[in-house]
Amino acid sequence: MADRKKRSGKLWGGRFAEETAASVEAFTESISYDWRMYRHDIMGSIAHARMLAKQGLITEAERDAIVQGLSEIKQEIDDGSFVFLPELEDIHMNIEQALTDKIGAAGEKLHTARSRNDQVALDIRLYLRDEGLVLDRLLAEVQKAFTRQARACFGAIMPGYTHMQRAQPVLLSHHLLAYVEMFGRDRERVSDCMKRINIMPLGTAALAGTGLPIDRDFVARELDFPVVSANSMDTTADRDFAMELLFCLTTIQLHLSRMSEELVLWSSKEFEFVQIGDRYCTGSSIMPQKKNPDIPELIRGKSGRVTGALVALLMTVKGLPLTYNRDLQEDKEQIFDALDTVKASLSITAELLANSRFNTDRMRDATYGGFMTATDIADYLVRKNMPFRHAHGVVGKIVALCQKRDIELPELTLAELQQFAEEIEADIFDVLSVEGSVDSRTSTGGTAGVRVQEALERAEQQLGIA
Ligand code: ARG
Repeated sequence: MADRKKRSGKLWGGRFAEETAASVEAFTESISYDWRMYRHDIMGSIAHARMLAKQGLITEAERDAIVQGLSEIKQEIDDGSFVFLPELEDIHMNIEQALTDKIGAAGEKLHTARSRNDQVALDIRLYLRDEGLVLDRLLAEVQKAFTRQARACFGAIMPGYTHMQRAQPVLLSHHLLAYVEMFGRDRERVSDCMKRINIMPLGTAALAGTGLPIDRDFVARELDFPVVSANSMDTTADRDFAMELLFCLTTIQLHLSRMSEELVLWSSKEFEFVQIGDRYCTGSSIMPQKKNPDIPELIRGKSGRVTGALVALLMTVKGLPLTYNRDLQEDKEQIFDALDTVKASLSITAELLANSRFNTDRMRDATYGGFMTATDIADYLVRKNMPFRHAHGVVGKIVALCQKRDIELPELTLAELQQFAEEIEADIFDVLSVEGSVDSRTSTGGTAGVRVQEALERAEQQLGIA
């Protein structure tokens, strides 16, 4: 490989009288991070070479030499024996130069009717297409972890909150299934984004297209793309698909972060709603009693980083004139870091959930205090024909009385309740209990046991949980 370095020079060196400054090479290289697209770069080059041969732009023997050489290079990178050279800037030129060193003149024909501008667009698109599948699988695993917990604790009642104040009793399963919905939307978003990633860019030959007789549709078929891009200038300049995927990743991470915040709160002494398994917590170096929820804290913390990647790329693209500008090289570190972060967060979340135990007695106890069935009394009065606004006022007075006497709603007698509204009868006590309240919320998407059971079955079926 050292030979390669000595012989190489720059692939674009013809018009230069001086060697590139070492500081410039160090500043402009991307091989230290874009090497990870090598499989996709090679896959794209093989498809391109096949097309060139089919179109008579290279011979079949040259094509075979190129394919053979590229396969060997892939093998060398796979097994770690390939040496990447920063002076060759990026993955595209490292591979092309190695190919030419290996097979000679045929290697120099590979870049016919192609530029690194469309090559890099192809590589990222191929790379992200694979990552889309990984994300979908990881999201499904997280959905399964939530659904399994929702099944295991079915029937358990907890306070539902607004403004972090106890609001109305709900089933814990209902709360957990809310996350299944969120991650379901994330899967849809990623899959929708894939429609715009799955477009074949190769063949713009820098920006204007080419006069050489290429066949872009053939390359698209070789690489399993349903369509080719429509405008060569847009193709080279476009990073919308990457911004869009970063938005998808940010949303996933924010969903994980909201869940994490709940786990942090719920595992505190104040709540004690959940116990995270010892293997998934860490201790304090000074306070022997501590068991800290570091995993959810880090997931929450990393949402800054993923959001940062999105904002960084948005700002990089802002104000860029058409078409390619080197600024666009800044896309990859953001994309890779956000992908790594989100994937790691998703897989640890699935484990974390499976290794957490909900303290359902504690949750049930927390539904006492806070007059959580107040809305149910108002609804009861509405059923007795009282206008809702009026009912709201009546129940407000009932709550005020309870507060003054420091008692809960079910502790009032029928006679006391009837002083507030003559519509109130003995059946009021059915809605005063948290169980009665939960069971009454049978509206579509509501927390009643029947509805949550349906939602659970739907989720289990969709996720293929037996
Ligand atoms: N490493 C470059 C990037 O990531 C590849 C394209 C370079 N194109 C160029 N004309 N310098 O964007």
